[in-house]
Amino acid sequence: MKIMVVGGGGREHAIIKALRKNLEITEIFALPGNGGIAADAICADIAAKDLSGITAFARERKIDFAVVAPDDPLVLGAVDLLDAIGIPCFGPNQAAAAIEGSKVFSKNLMKKYGIPTARFEVFRDPDKAVAYLKSEHMYPAVIKADGLALGKGVLIAENEAEAVKAVHTIMTEKAFGESGNQVVVEEFLTGPEVSVLSFTDGETIVPMVSSMDHKRAFDHDRGPNTGGMGAIAPNPFYTEDIQKTCMETIFLPTIQAMKAEGRPFKGCLYFGLMLTPDGPRVIEYNCRFGDPEAQVVLPLLKTDLLTIMQAVSQGKLNDVNVEFDSGAACCVVAASGGYPVKYERGYPVSFGRAEYLPDVTVFHAGTKKTDSGLVTSGGRVLGVTATGPDLPRAIEKAYAAMNEISFKDMFYRWDIGGRCG
Ligand code: AMP
Ligand code: GLY
Repeated sequence: MKIMVVGGGGREHAIIKALRKNLEITEIFALPGNGGIAADAICADIAAKDLSGITAFARERKIDFAVVAPDDPLVLGAVDLLDAIGIPCFGPNQAAAAIEGSKVFSKNLMKKYGIPTARFEVFRDPDKAVAYLKSEHMYPAVIKADGLALGKGVLIAENEAEAVKAVHTIMTEKAFGESGNQVVVEEFLTGPEVSVLSFTDGETIVPMVSSMDHKRAFDHDRGPNTGGMGAIAPNPFYTEDIQKTCMETIFLPTIQAMKAEGRPFKGCLYFGLMLTPDGPRVIEYNCRFGDPEAQVVLPLLKTDLLTIMQAVSQGKLNDVNVEFDSGAACCVVAASGGYPVKYERGYPVSFGRAEYLPDVTVFHAGTKKTDSGLVTSGGRVLGVTATGPDLPRAIEKAYAAMNEISFKDMFYRWDIGGRCG
């Protein structure tokens, strides 16, 4: 079997490593992949957003199965195009990917179907948004650009001046382009955050082991928001009771709502939840595996990933018994100094013994191959993941491996998993 994975970060590396365990797969292509992924797949220099490049490649190489991992190509309709040329895919079509592609769509969906989320209002006109914020006078207030914004489209305003600035940043200055044509203004919620990734074929939903992202750049959740500086799985706040409540009030209602809207969701549906004092609430949906969450969840998956993905694509998920290891995983991201604002690339990476330590996998997020070895090529460079029988041991092994790794100006958080006491 020939498989194509669209994307080129740590998440895609984790997907490819999991797929490689299936011996029926003869070739895996990564579009575009990266320097480290090149050790596990054949990288083709085609950008994840280049939909015509992707479909042409799939046709030429006679790909048997495609996995579209990042948000952009999913929201742009990559799965619809691959489907049209007869290539089975893992990932939602464009209509279903709107659950991430438009916050206005997802918030209205939750309102219509009674799925618990923060109270909100939608605005097309910046003056009306500002007038509303002034009349409500409830701070902090959360202001979100409607569309995709590289994870940066959520602004939290502590007072009126910040709120007005946020509306103008999104809607007038168009800091996130067309994504800012509409904004969602919503109530600020508090509580631990949980990421639950799930497999769903539109009818059956199978939640994966829960996880916790660490979005801020620096220790103790300080500094700017990033794509994610590390993750742990399972999430210690996500008890069995909460899990049951989420299944009944959030997971099943969401897939039923998408079906009722004529947008059945097939692929990985990501629930970004907040466990508030009033119960679990949806903070966001993503139409794909989270990154770095995939780097802790997939190493704990015991069932063959391709079997699950094919069952999802064929609408037969109910026939598969999806199992996870009962242990834990921790991923610490090694980032380039200055990330997420401004950083240099091209520094040589030295791995020491990291990759030879037991239960450790080094996923590559931003590396590039050169004649003299691997160099940094992005803000997030590596995801150093370790598994263990419990969280403390997974954390210890991940940091021991991180200790082996170095590149100029490298930084990472010291407190991944530390919120859990
Ligand atoms: P999102 O891109 O929607 O995941 O938002 C990014 C981050 O902003 C989330 O992970 C939360 O930490 C925070 N956030 C988003 N919405 C809210 C909210 N209504 N209340 C409090 N924090 C929020
Ligand atoms: N780690 C959050 C995300 O993938 O959106």
